Amino acid sequence: MERRSFLKSCACVAAVGATEGLSSRAEAATKKVEIMRPQPGDRLVIEDGHGNARAISASELVLEAQQVLAFPQDPTTGVIRSGSRFNKVMVMRLDPALMDEETKTHSADGVVAYSAICTHQGCDVNSFVAEKKEFFCFCHYSRFNPYAAGKVTNGPATRKLAMLPIEIKDDLLVVKDSFTRKPGYKQ
Ligand code: FES
Repeated sequence: MERRSFLKSCACVAAVGATEGLSSRAEAATKKVEIMRPQPGDRLVIEDGHGNARAISASELVLEAQQVLAFPQDPTTGVIRSGSRFNKVMVMRLDPALMDEETKTHSADGVVAYSAICTHQGCDVNSFVAEKKEFFCFCHYSRFNPYAAGKVTNGPATRKLAMLPIEIKDDLLVVKDSFTRKPGYKQ
């Protein structure tokens, strides 16, 4: 091989290596953002399972309609923090007049966000029983009161759900602070 072609091919290999290094660093950075717990300023979005997101607006939430499952999204990078299921939250509109003080503090205009992970053994809490005004976990039938900061109303769960404090900006749901307690079922 001529010296010039040899040098050219070496440069190409080095460039490919550098590009690969950059992309794996970028992937690692994205992964880190994906698993990070919700951060103040994150938007709450519905994810379609293919990385596409739709921001939830406060005005679309109907009083005591079934909760909407959502993930936080980093507003700067657009990365959805769905790399950890402990970031999954359920969002719904409640009657502020029925809320206790703690719930009121962490809600915005009647809208609340709770960790969707049952504190018993970690199933998704994906049902709301309107007649009882309670969240319901189908795995072992634990129930939680969304008007009382996620307090357990029926076991076997013994610990209340974590709340995610939110605010409303331009009709969108925005994370105001970190979870009120560790989400999930481990102490
Ligand atoms: S995991 Fe929810 S009640 Fe057991």
